[in-house]
Amino acid sequence: MKSTHIMAGVMGWPVSHSRSPVIHNHWISEYGLSGAYGLFPVHPSQLEAAIRGLQALGLAGCNITIPHKVDAMRFVDWVDPLAVRMGAINTIVVQQDGALHGFNHDGYGYVQSLREAQPNWQADTGPAVILGAGGAARAIVVSLLDGGATDIRILNRTLSKADDLAQEFGMAVRALNWSERADALEGAALLVNTTSLGMNGESALDIDLSKLPISALVSDIIYVPLETPLLHAARLKGNTTVNGLGMLLHQARPAFHAWFGVMPQVTPQLKNAILATF
Ligand code: ATR
Repeated sequence: MKSTHIMAGVMGWPVSHSRSPVIHNHWISEYGLSGAYGLFPVHPSQLEAAIRGLQALGLAGCNITIPHKVDAMRFVDWVDPLAVRMGAINTIVVQQDGALHGFNHDGYGYVQSLREAQPNWQADTGPAVILGAGGAARAIVVSLLDGGATDIRILNRTLSKADDLAQEFGMAVRALNWSERADALEGAALLVNTTSLGMNGESALDIDLSKLPISALVSDIIYVPLETPLLHAARLKGNTTVNGLGMLLHQARPAFHAWFGVMPQVTPQLKNAILATF
């Protein structure tokens, strides 16, 4: 029988920086639920044991973060087809019968964050330029394709990784040289930075935005700082910008729904609670 006190958490290594406890515990309190969401620092060598222990401990599930998102797929009993295409999971839900199901809500979170800035945003509005070809870029590519995107341009420092994505996802996805990033912006409707460039402590992303249409949405999945040099430059140019906080908050919603049975909302109060932790 399921306890009415519901527990979940996030496994990562390291994990102390994660804002997920703030988000989920905020919702637990906001919706008057009984439960808790904690941090689980899990060394890679212990990942399988930790995941297999979820059911024995009576947890509703957990989030999976860096560096476990790819490896964790091997230790669950079933992976959602969307997560299979993304090649990673960020959420595990323990089923009634104890089976572990894996999901990936990163792409959902990203699209919802764009819709917060532009409620009518559609992936098929025009070309999308993605900087970076790591795990986050992969999740975003899948979401854009599912939204009907037909022209996705991926630019990565290591071209071979962008090539791999283009090969895997077909005609709509093209890999371009990192050195072509300024020209690739021509006619774009969306620009997203998924590299670590512009994060606190890293160098800024060096890109000339002059060819980017003013109608393009410019987004960064970084949220520390909230306004990266890229977003700052885009805002001064007159483009609408979207920072990474929305992706973080919105990816958490379907996981919370699966564990706690309530689809929570992203409110200004929640945003303030997160901002207070910076
Ligand atoms: P995530 O899961 O957040 O996507 P990741 O898989 O480690 O993280 O990917 C990081 C991305 O940032 C990669 O595309 C990486 O480029 P490489 O594939 O060439 O490593 C990119 N990146 C990191 N540091 C960079 C830098 N100094 N210049 C350009 N790109 C960089």
